[in-house]
Amino acid sequence: MSVETPHKIDTSKLDEIIKSYDSKKSNLIAILQKVQEVYRYLPEEAMIYIGTKIEGLSPATVFGVATFYAQFSLEPKGKYEIKVCDGTACHVRGSMPVLNAIRNKLNLKEGQVTSDNGLFSLEIVSCLGACGLAPVCVVNDKVYPQMTSDAISMVLDTLMKEEGSN
Ligand code: FES
Repeated sequence: MSVETPHKIDTSKLDEIIKSYDSKKSNLIAILQKVQEVYRYLPEEAMIYIGTKIEGLSPATVFGVATFYAQFSLEPKGKYEIKVCDGTACHVRGSMPVLNAIRNKLNLKEGQVTSDNGLFSLEIVSCLGACGLAPVCVVNDKVYPQMTSDAISMVLDTLMKEEGSN
């Protein structure tokens, strides 16, 4: 089963968001945060729309801001956002085998972030502040301590089963 990815941008939804921030260019970051909340990433069409709708902005400025801040994703994210910590403690205790197990399980090619069915996306992060639990993974807001490749495979199997996807 694949997740519904919004291909078409609902401009009335964007208008609503822009209006709720008084159509001000000084509120651009808040506007982009809200748009990302709705789509789980910043679709190109949405950035162009915002850049043409708000006075004093251009699509190029909106792109510039979106690419400058790490909090914004220009790629679609999965329904399940997996973060693998590769800080020192996690690395030493085996985060790489865990990462490889996830890539294999999700069939992610080199450089691919989101699984083909749109359900999972993978991100490598540095220290999550839970080094005592290393190696640590986070799936959405749930923390998985002391992960091994077998353990994370089981977690993914369970999620895939729940989604009816194998
Ligand atoms: S290094 Fe992974 S939680 Fe600190």
